[in-house]
Amino acid sequence: MAVLGSLFLLSMLDMKTLNLTRLDGLLVEPTRDLAQLELYLQAGSDHRDEENPYVQWFLQRTEIPLSIVTYQENLYWMDDPFGRRNLVLVMSLDQLLTNRGAAAPIQKAGTFFYILADQDEDLSADEQLRLEGSCRQLWTQHKVYNRFFLTRDGVWIYDPFKRRDSAFGRLVRYYGSETLDKLLFRDMAGYPLRIQMFKSVYTRPEFDKESGLLTRVTGVDFLVAQMLRERLNFTMLLQQPEENYFG
Ligand SMILES: *[C@@H]1O[C@H](CO)[C@@H](O)[C@H](O)[C@H]1NC(C)=O
Repeated sequence: MAVLGSLFLLSMLDMKTLNLTRLDGLLVEPTRDLAQLELYLQAGSDHRDEENPYVQWFLQRTEIPLSIVTYQENLYWMDDPFGRRNLVLVMSLDQLLTNRGAAAPIQKAGTFFYILADQDEDLSADEQLRLEGSCRQLWTQHKVYNRFFLTRDGVWIYDPFKRRDSAFGRLVRYYGSETLDKLLFRDMAGYPLRIQMFKSVYTRPEFDKESGLLTRVTGVDFLVAQMLRERLNFTMLLQQPEENYFG
């Protein structure tokens, strides 16, 4: 990788403003603990993905084992061909907004970097809203959140707990501070979570004699849930325990 990286560097010396140091500030933290990365470049000579500053950064600046793949969007792209891997994908905004093909990894274990190749300026307000909508869809359907959108002027992420008016979920700027699991889950801003608790040594659900409905829960489990709720700031929606759901 290092050899390939320096070849690129030689051929790119007179490129625009290739500010790799600034990109360090944005990308070092989110990539720090990744065991591997796969870089997907768009196939075809009309794409010049390797000239993109973010692509350059991944080629030159990471110590992470990196494999490079060229890909072509096609009708037969499987639902989620990526398994649990971490991906850097170069694609157009239109492709990203479809949530299909390469734009739709539905597994939650990986980290995803989307390099928007067709951006010669920052996302417009309208594009931000459309991207936010497609992110909200992936979050509500698959709980996928670990995605970074690399645009010409900086990095965006989707924060499922920030609000857009009364709805949860908002596209926000990312400044390189932390990984998203740390950054996002510190304050869930009252996000509703369904919680079920089962009668056990640690949990005593109490029911209304007439209706059979759950009235309250006491016990150690409940105390732990309360502590988590306070710490993470979510709203606990206590569910009626289901007999068959235990285990
Ligand atoms: C918890 O979320 C609510 C609703 O968004 C917010 O007003 C409050 O400041 C948050 N509390 C903490 C401790 O972060």
